[in-house]
Amino acid sequence: MIILKSKEEVAKIAKASRIVAESLEALRAYLKPGMTTKELDQFVEKQIRERGGIPAFKGYRDYPATICISVNEEVVHGIPSDKVIKEGDIVGLDLGAIYDGFYGDSAVTVAVGEIQPEAKRLIQVTEASLYAGIEQAREGSRLSDISHAVQSHVEQAGFSVVTDFVGHGIGRSLHEEPQVPNFGPPGRGPRLREGMVLAIEPMVNMGKPAVRVLDDHWTAVTADGSLSAHFEHTIAITKEGPVILSKL
Ligand code: MF3
Ligand code: CO
Repeated sequence: MIILKSKEEVAKIAKASRIVAESLEALRAYLKPGMTTKELDQFVEKQIRERGGIPAFKGYRDYPATICISVNEEVVHGIPSDKVIKEGDIVGLDLGAIYDGFYGDSAVTVAVGEIQPEAKRLIQVTEASLYAGIEQAREGSRLSDISHAVQSHVEQAGFSVVTDFVGHGIGRSLHEEPQVPNFGPPGRGPRLREGMVLAIEPMVNMGKPAVRVLDDHWTAVTADGSLSAHFEHTIAITKEGPVILSKL
């Protein structure tokens, strides 16, 4: 069942999402080569708490940290550790917060200093595919119109969408129905309605779509070792169209 949210509930998800957006922005400015991913985790946890939020991922299915940091061939769910960020890396930063019982969730992939042109293009295409999906998040459209828009955008650019992980509804839980795949034919699934709140999150590989999960049971990496990027926004569907709640 898809839980429709009232305007008051959307406002709370917006507040949680704003905390995420501001904390991610602060982290972006803070992140420098030579830092460990654990240092970044500690920094961003403080950012969330200073704004009155609670880290959403910590303790979720025993996930041990505030943020997921996925470097280069890591796709999603990288656990903060002693790994050192280097010039030339691409770094996925995925963050969730709870405010007044409601969740917000967003991710970006950032370049550390100078990166290869093809890595830059991967990041740009992944972000643009998120916006192509969001553009379809309108009353009267079908859920899979979002999925199809993301996949088309990515494949036209010559990259692959990851199919092992999907976006999701969000509200009083981090993961609610419906699942929001980043692939599939258009015109399928539930009709989109005002009050639906979705986390749309394309994961895009430079090479093949296959991923595998490391022995830590969390970190997903590309099977072929190619680079991967991830962007995510929490959005609300309104009469006026999609509203991005996790954008500053
Ligand atoms: N943005 C990811 C998701 O929505 C992050 C989840 S990490 C977890 O699935 F630790 F909370 F699982
Ligand atoms: Co998510």
